[in-house]
Amino acid sequence: MLENKTVFITGGAGFIGSMLAGRLIGHNRVVLFDNLTRNSLKDKAFEAHPNLRLVEGDILDGAALETAMQGAEFVVHCAAIAGIDTVIKKPVNTMRVNMLGSANVLEAASRLKHCARVVCFSTSEVFGTHGFQSSELDKTVVGAVGEARWTYAVSKLAEEHLAHAYYTERWLPTTCVRPFNVYGPGQVGEGAIRTFVNRAIRNEPIEIHGDGTQIRAWCYIDDLVEGVLLALEHPKAVGESFNIGNQRTVVTIYGLANTIVRVLGSTSPIRFIQKEYADVELRVPSTDKARRLLGFEAKVDLEEGLRRTADYYRKFM
Ligand SMILES: NC(=O)c1ccc[n+]([C@@H]2O[C@H](COP(=O)([O-])OP(=O)(O)OC[C@H]3O[C@@H](n4cnc5c(N)ncnc54)[C@H](O)[C@@H]3O)[C@@H](O)[C@H]2O)c1
Repeated sequence: MLENKTVFITGGAGFIGSMLAGRLIGHNRVVLFDNLTRNSLKDKAFEAHPNLRLVEGDILDGAALETAMQGAEFVVHCAAIAGIDTVIKKPVNTMRVNMLGSANVLEAASRLKHCARVVCFSTSEVFGTHGFQSSELDKTVVGAVGEARWTYAVSKLAEEHLAHAYYTERWLPTTCVRPFNVYGPGQVGEGAIRTFVNRAIRNEPIEIHGDGTQIRAWCYIDDLVEGVLLALEHPKAVGESFNIGNQRTVVTIYGLANTIVRVLGSTSPIRFIQKEYADVELRVPSTDKARRLLGFEAKVDLEEGLRRTADYYRKFM
């Protein structure tokens, strides 16, 4: 575990960034850089911790980013436009923030005096509409132009290629992680589990987009953070991309909704609504590479994760 280091986290007020900050804050100086379009930090007990500094800023502002990053030894780049509904409404912003903003982060990191690691966040969306036990050696898929959903995957893929290029050409020690469907306490953006759990707690109807046959593998936030910490510290992570997910928690969206209703003892009815955008039908990772090289293993099973998530959201009712 890192100790006495300065860790700079873009998007550090978001779901994943703030949970990561919570793990590091006890023994490190943590700087969060975020424009606060989303904010999970405000609900964290460590918000006013003396080791924490929040800089409000936009990763599209390269100069502000570079100033705020001064003195960082480790950089984690979480800031992004994420969540399919947001992406579809704002494809221009998605591509600008995720491509140009990421370029700014990598360039600023490459100018640091002592940069031990840069971890960039990609996505499992780079595997397209059908990915079963997708491995890092599988081809990434770029969907049809004009389908707004794919602006997210394409922009993240560009970020990944750029991170790798900074490693090979400029020896910046970069690592990319591809999270597969993360959920849990503190999620502030879109996410099926966040929405379904909140509705189930209130016994309100749960709405499934499409016919509910879409298949996902769900990764609890603590497991994801464990994977990111390994990517941040492990010497074998440099220059690599890793799938980070839980390959055992595989369920259809209809199965997920039923599981949530059963586990939480809810009376929510389940309904189906049609959405006009492209969907991912099958997404299950292989996390063998992360296990082999980093010793990563997801531990929290789905029902346990759902209970913990519901306990968290009940506090806000
Ligand atoms: N949650 C998942 O299941 C998942 C899956 C795959 C990839 N990811 C990636 O992981 C990263 C973190 O995701 P998350 O779930 O925490 O999302 P999130 O939306 O909760 O966090 C992103 C943060 O970035 C900030 N931000 C957005 N635009 C910014 C900008 N221009 N400048 C500065 N800050 C900006 C937001 O305010 C937010 O706090 C993202 O890069 C996302 O694409 C997440």
